[in-house]
Amino acid sequence: MTFPSPVAYQQLMGNISEILFSAEQIQARVLELGAAISRDYEGCHPLLVGVLKGVFPFLADLARAITIPIEVDFMAIASYSAESRRNGVVRIQKDLDSAIGGRHVLFVEDVVDTGLTLNYLLRNLRSREPATLHVCAMFDKGSRRLIRTPIHYKGFDLPDRFVVGYGLDYRELYRNLPFVGLLKADAFSPGESEKKGSSK
Ligand code: IMP
Repeated sequence: MTFPSPVAYQQLMGNISEILFSAEQIQARVLELGAAISRDYEGCHPLLVGVLKGVFPFLADLARAITIPIEVDFMAIASYSAESRRNGVVRIQKDLDSAIGGRHVLFVEDVVDTGLTLNYLLRNLRSREPATLHVCAMFDKGSRRLIRTPIHYKGFDLPDRFVVGYGLDYRELYRNLPFVGLLKADAFSPGESEKKGSSK
């Protein structure tokens, strides 16, 4: 797949200070993850579950890199409050369309940061008694983890920096960039800096 030249992204690119993972690096890694998943889940007809919105580019690319039959489903979540966000408690705004009892479920995440959201959602999904429940995350900010969370398939490790692109947003923007990068300091709203500004 070829991507528009960076010139086409001038408006968005102007706010990027550094590219951490290029589109080509991301696509190559997604192909490797897809091959590993296709091998490991051969004959299992897995269900890929993604949490909107940040996961959409990764899940779309990953699904096309998998060469065995799969199904795809989505959840959407929101925080009740800043306090509940800190505890990892989230409100499920849109639940799965399908029952997962007895299914092989692969939970697909854009980035695992503190791990609180992932931990909460895995507990929720585990209570529905899937046959297996594994995690595939494109990016892992391991140094920020507050709770141990298993990641069975991982794209790349990220430093403890706020990043945008490939689904990840700052105030809903930058999700459509095909790479992952850092924002210039003056791209943040007044009074904000690299603090977490994502809206999931
Ligand atoms: P956790 O509960 O702290 O692991 O939160 C994970 C969620 O935070 C991800 O699914 C993203 O929506 C968001 N997030 C974490 N780090 C970043 C980032 O650097 N940029 C954009 N969103 C992020």
